[in-house]
Amino acid sequence: MFWAWAKHVSSMAELLRRSGHTSARAAQRPWLRDLRGSSGEDLKAREGGAFCQGEGAQTQKDLPYQQASPSCGTGGMPVHDEILYNNQLIAFLEEIWGDGYLSPGGPDEVARVLTGVDVTGQHVLDIGSGSGACAIALVQEYGASRVTGIDVEDPVCDAARDRVSRAGVTTQIEILKVDPGPFPFADGAFDVVFSKDAIIHIPDKAAMARGAFRVLKPGGRFAASDWLMSHDGPPSAQMTDYIKEEGLDFAMASPRSYATAMEQAGFVDVELVNRNPWYAKVAAQELAWLVGPDRPDLSARHGQDFIDHQVDIWTKLVGVLESGEHCPHHIRARKPV
Ligand SMILES: C[S@@+](CC[C@H](N)C(=O)[O-])C[C@H]1O[C@@H](n2cnc3c(N)ncnc32)[C@H](O)[C@@H]1O
Repeated sequence: MFWAWAKHVSSMAELLRRSGHTSARAAQRPWLRDLRGSSGEDLKAREGGAFCQGEGAQTQKDLPYQQASPSCGTGGMPVHDEILYNNQLIAFLEEIWGDGYLSPGGPDEVARVLTGVDVTGQHVLDIGSGSGACAIALVQEYGASRVTGIDVEDPVCDAARDRVSRAGVTTQIEILKVDPGPFPFADGAFDVVFSKDAIIHIPDKAAMARGAFRVLKPGGRFAASDWLMSHDGPPSAQMTDYIKEEGLDFAMASPRSYATAMEQAGFVDVELVNRNPWYAKVAAQELAWLVGPDRPDLSARHGQDFIDHQVDIWTKLVGVLESGEHCPHHIRARKPV
């Protein structure tokens, strides 16, 4: 599917231009030209094992969409008051990863996540919709009839609604701000559950998997990308240092425990694809760009302290990617009919 799509869209720059989000800077970033270096299928790794405990299966039906509150989130994790994805971080991540994208790989990586998953005419739940480009791609590039994007913070929801409005797809895409926790939807509400690099913020993967299973129709598909850690147990000192530098509420599961969470929720055909080899290469390019000739311009636009901090983050990110401990994965599964 990826290669078919790749023939249709010859480059990310072209897609940005066609979407009306042309960015000369985006077109110049080398990793955005190299995104199609591997289909990822040769990196396939199926894993199994044991993982999270915590919140029981949820059977919420027709809950009102909850507003953020200082309560407990999924898996009993305290909800922080601080905005993590603020406008400054959104602007920077979109510069490095493409307009509307707060995760690596842009539209090409969305295509790879959707390998073998047809969303044409489907109602898709996008968990952690960020600033909206994935939801728009699901409608405009893949023919989803409807996308419900959920996120937990106002700045990303505002950015996504604005992007959806500018793209002219407000009748197909709704962006809902929800509390972290059980998905506030009826059983069987969706044909497909999609997520791009957001479930890392949900500590209880078992509860997430049960929730995704519940809101899917029989035969529904789960297709996600997420940032994983290669092993169970506590992160290494190097990984702990990286996560601390990020300053985000990362909760990284192992491929083995992720697969188990999905299978125990009832999913079948659980497939995990290790994206570490791809992102280790791309992140090194991103770091080279951050510390290269564009750094003064980046500092002028985003703030010197902010860019200095991002360089520290990327330096540590590249380290844990090179060691293999940080291993982004694609996760696909099916709810039995
Ligand atoms: C790395 S960004 C990815 C955004 C988008 N999927 C993309 O690829 O551009 C992670 C997103 O997950 C959101 N998020 C954090 N905790 C969440 C939760 N419990 N449920 C849903 N989304 C969450 C964040 O606010 C952020 O927008």
